[in-house]
Order: sequence, then structure tokens, then C-alpha cells
Amino acid sequence: MKIDVKVMNLIEFRGDALIVNLFEKLKKPGGATAAADSAIGGVISRKIKNGEFTGKLGETLAVPAGKGLGVENVIVVGLGNREKFDLDTVRKASAAAAQKCETLKARTAATILHGAGAGGIDREDAARAVAEGTMLGLYRFDRYMTKDKKEKEKRLQSLTIIERESAGATAIRKGVKLGTVLADATIAARDLVNEPASVMTPERLAQEARKVAKEGGLNIKVFGKVEIERMKMGGLLGVSRGSAQPPRFIVMRYKGDPNSKKSVGIIGKGITFDSGGLSLKPPAGMEDMKGDMAGAACVICTMKALSKLKPRINVTAVVPATENMPGHNAQKVGDVIRAMNGKSIEVLNTDAEGRLVLADAICYAKKQGLLPIVDVATLTGACMVALGDLCSGAFGNDKKLIDSIIGAAEKAGEKVWHMPIFDEYKALIKSDIADVKNVGGKWGGAITAALFLGFFYEEEVPWCHLDIAGPMFAAKDSFYLRKGASGTTVRTLTLWLLDRAKR
Ligand code: BES
Ligand code: ZN
Ligand code: ZN
Repeated sequence: MKIDVKVMNLIEFRGDALIVNLFEKLKKPGGATAAADSAIGGVISRKIKNGEFTGKLGETLAVPAGKGLGVENVIVVGLGNREKFDLDTVRKASAAAAQKCETLKARTAATILHGAGAGGIDREDAARAVAEGTMLGLYRFDRYMTKDKKEKEKRLQSLTIIERESAGATAIRKGVKLGTVLADATIAARDLVNEPASVMTPERLAQEARKVAKEGGLNIKVFGKVEIERMKMGGLLGVSRGSAQPPRFIVMRYKGDPNSKKSVGIIGKGITFDSGGLSLKPPAGMEDMKGDMAGAACVICTMKALSKLKPRINVTAVVPATENMPGHNAQKVGDVIRAMNGKSIEVLNTDAEGRLVLADAICYAKKQGLLPIVDVATLTGACMVALGDLCSGAFGNDKKLIDSIIGAAEKAGEKVWHMPIFDEYKALIKSDIADVKNVGGKWGGAITAALFLGFFYEEEVPWCHLDIAGPMFAAKDSFYLRKGASGTTVRTLTLWLLDRAKR
């Protein structure tokens, strides 16, 4: 998929489809939509008058252009209520239009820049959103489908964003570039998460990270089992014991600011399959646990985006990777293990494994002097109960840090909500026989999980834990989300780091 920008009059475009838009409840098209409409003899206005097209968000209308234009079809996409219009509307409308191109088998299309006119959105942002919505909306995980290769070739190959004034083109090109990188990285994360767990083992995840590092010129070190033992990562080792696949500990470094010794740390939970271990999960929905490495996919693909965008900042990604399986050597309920920093943990539920591997990753990140540290993890079903399946929870000890991440999420069109870590609840993870236990009580499971991580972060480092259990998978196709892995938080984390680099 190639997206380019051309300064021209839209009625001169030659290709398969021309995309214009309409706000809901408008009786008459305006601007570029009106120009396209009059070129094809007013068909669009007639359809609006007849009530055949209302402009509801994501609604599409395809009108054969006849001889009036150099395209087969004019596609009108609804932008919905003008009062509710925002950047995410642009992503949604772009996705809907791209999907309509696909149904029409259009291979080359042009679009006006949704939102830049009547919507009042900055051109660069609007262009980024068009790129994101288009590319993510066309995503499909179809590598296991046996079918005619030509199917693929019929899909939308190029999208041209048409701008009338040459002065606006530079900003649009900048936005397209950023949007393309963000969408590519998100798609890469979706691919990693959608891949079945028998393929996406800890070693394969490490190979994928190596590929990203090689392509992007990043430094990478993958630790194997012996080195993990030498580093005394009892959490990662404990979880991996029940699995036939050896664990991996992946560290990637992006050095965009060689003059500085500082580096931000981003940690991703990399459980490539979470069966629950001996505290085995029930069968229903267990297939989703191939996605328990969505945090890892997020940080690896964020590194991919950074390697292309080259911001002036140093970032280190840390991924503890293992399966959580109930094999004959599995850790047992009631075992006491020690994390890298020597703190002891009573394992009362082997299904609360994410926090065990993250404990070691946090110790490692702190030892490396990374600061601040943000971890991304599909950590608790409880967070999903609290916030639903479109929103992540943000926990931490630094309000400014959390606010900056929430700010980046807003720019990315992702939902992140600040959650509390009340001191009073620390009592819930007190163990009778060890420094801490890995489960809290019945209530507030997302909070006790965050408090457990906080026990390893300790107070001296500013940290933020993002529980992405809710949005890691989309339950159904919806605009630029396709059923399956969402690639959540890649865009938030990347935009947050870009922002930090500017400060
Ligand atoms: N990977 C799961 C959390 C999860 C659940 C992610 C659903 C995405 C969708 C995690 O390892 C887990 O099993 N957590 C337990 C913790 C409990 C045993 C304290 C949970 O949430 O039930
Ligand atoms: Zn689990
Ligand atoms: Zn898990």
C-alpha cells in the first residue's frame, strides 16, 4: 500500500476511485464533494435528497462516475455528526472508504483530506490519520488461508491524497510519513500477536526482534536460559519450568541521542502462551492466550517505529519471554521463588505469571539505570472487567508521567485511563512466608497486580504500568480495528517517545 500526495484539482484524477465525504444531515454537499457531484451530474445530491445516503459515520455510497470523471466510481463516505468530529473520525472514515475500495476492487484511489476543510483539523494530523485509518482498515491476517494469490493483487495498491494548494502539501507529506510508520509498526505487532503460539515461541519472538534490530540498525542482545540463570531471574525461570520451550530475555537499544547516557525503559510482557500453568485456565477463550505477548509485540514494534523516525532520545526495550505451561517440571502452587533482586515471592496462583516475569524485567531495567520505565502487559482479566475491551489501565507513581502517556494516547486515538494504586491495598499481597505473594484478594485484581509490580519498581524510579488486557484483541471488525489482534499501544508509546524527544 502506497500513499502519496498530489497538488491538483480532484476532478482531474485518473484511477479507479475518488473518495469524498459528507457530514451527517447535510442537505447539500459542499466543497470538494460538491465539485465531484457536479462533475457527475448531481447524482450525489439526488441520493442525499432521496434519503439513500445520510452521512452517518462510516456509511459509504459508491456512484459510477460515467464520463464525467476519470475514475470508475466516486465513493462518498459519511463523517457523522459535525459536533462530534475529531481526529479519530478521520481514521474511521478513511478505513470505511478503503474497505469500500476493496469491495469495488479498486486498485488505485484518490481521496480528499478528511477534516482539513470544514472539520478544522490541522493538515499534518489529518494526513497522519488518513494513513493510519486506511492501512489499519485494510489489515488482514490471512497467511494461513489457502487461496488465489491474485486476490491480493486486486486489493487497493495506492492512495493519493489530493490537495489544491501547494502550500499545504508539505504538512500533508509529513503527516503521511508519520502515519505510515505508525500503521506499519502497528500492523507488525498485529502479525506477531495473531500468529499461533506453536509458531510464536520465545525463540521465534527473539528472532522477530533480531529482524527489527537488523533492519533498523538497533543494538540487540538475546539472553538464553543459562544467562537467565546466571542473572538469577527466578520469576522468569519459575514460569518457564513447565514448558518445553526455553525462555528468552530480549534487550533492544535505540540510540537516538548518543551524547546522553540516559535511556527510557519500555518493558513488554512476553508470555507466548498462557495456559495458566498448574492453575490451569478453563478451555473457553484459552486460544486468546496466544496474545499474552501483546506487550512484548508492542515494545518491539515501537522500536521498529523509532528506528524509522529517528527521534533524539535513547530507548531500551526489555522483553521477558516464555510460555506458561503445566509440564511435569512446572512450578507448583505454594512454591517460593526469588526475583533477580533477591526478593522472595510466594506463588499462590501460577496463572498470575505475568507479574513474575515482569518483576525480573523491572529489576533488570532498574539495574541498567533506565528511567522512566513503562511496562506494557496483558496482565489481568480484572482490568478488562473494570474498563472494558477498548481501554487500557495506567498505574504508577508519577502523575506527570501518566498524564503524558494519556496525552499521547489521545493523539493516537487509543483509550488509556488512570487507575489508582491505594497504599491500603498493599496488605492484600502480604505473604505469610515470603516478602510478597503473587495474588491479592477477590477484588481489585488489576490494582493488586500493579502494586505487586510497584513492590519491584520501588519508589526511586518513576514508573507506569499499562494493563492492555482489554484492548489486545478486537472482538469484531470495527473501522480500523479488525477482528483479532489490535496492535494496541504501539502508536501511543511511539508518539509519547517522539514527544519526549522534543522536550
Ligand atoms: N494473561 C492473563 C490476563 C488476561 C486475561 C489477559 C484475559 C487478557 C485477557 C494473566 O496472566 C492472568 O491469567 N491473570 C489472572 C490473574 C489472577 C490469577 C490473579 C486473571 O486475570 O485472572
Ligand atoms: Zn496467567
Ligand atoms: Zn498471562
